[in-house]
Amino acid sequence: MNNEAGNTTAQGNPLKHVAIIMDGNGRWARARGEARLYGHMQGVESVRRAIRGAMAHRVEYLTLYAFSTENWRRPQTEIDGLMELLADSTVREVPELKAQGVRLQFIGDLSALSATVRESIAAAERETRENNRLTLIIALNYSSRWEITCMTRELARKAVHGTISPDEITAGTVENHLVTAPYPDPDLLIRTSGEYRLSNFLLWQAAYSEFYFTEVLWPDFDEAEFDRAVAAYRLRDRRFGGVKNLYREKAGECPPE
Ligand code: FPP
Repeated sequence: MNNEAGNTTAQGNPLKHVAIIMDGNGRWARARGEARLYGHMQGVESVRRAIRGAMAHRVEYLTLYAFSTENWRRPQTEIDGLMELLADSTVREVPELKAQGVRLQFIGDLSALSATVRESIAAAERETRENNRLTLIIALNYSSRWEITCMTRELARKAVHGTISPDEITAGTVENHLVTAPYPDPDLLIRTSGEYRLSNFLLWQAAYSEFYFTEVLWPDFDEAEFDRAVAAYRLRDRRFGGVKNLYREKAGECPPE
């Protein structure tokens, strides 16, 4: 098996960053005759299992899509319940995250959130900032179109003020102006619940991510499913637009049929 540099490794592709679109909470709850919020509450337990799965595989970054800029279109009771759940879970989980060496970070338009939610986020980030075993990134009121719009606005502002020349703008400049600038691109992107779309999540960053789609609804997601996603990913042939890993050193040479 070859890694990104074309070297042979026993475990297959190296895995630094996993991103997850946690989907299916509402359907899971409805199937049990419960309110949608009950599914979100059960989903918190799956978040804990995903963290354990990430740690077992020595993943360094785990990004979870918790609330998109489009999720405000949901019924107000669900939004209020979700926000309360997110704030409460953040506060409640901090001691355990600290003990496990997890650094908690949030990305998204946090300015639109209530003061209570913003305060619990700021406290959690502050209290876990020294940890370095796993960085858990929660995308909250996030969407790629929002992020790319902000980045464009910022670059335009710099160009107008003369602190950047349009000709100097490269892909690296764009990356450095995204909210994900401190993190590597996701190697593996998982979506649960049998939906096959990105839903405005990490559109730029997932350019070369490997996708793993599962029918499992998020409240049923567990370490075994995480293991299956990682096992599938390890076997993928990652070429990053180049040629087959085996033949990378002799670019241009076609692999045998
Ligand atoms: C998508 O399922 C899920 C969400 C929009 C919310 C995810 C939030 C949690 C799991 C809460 C806990 C999170 C953290 C980080 C503590 P859906 O409601 O769209 O399900 P459906 O497609 O079946 O309707």
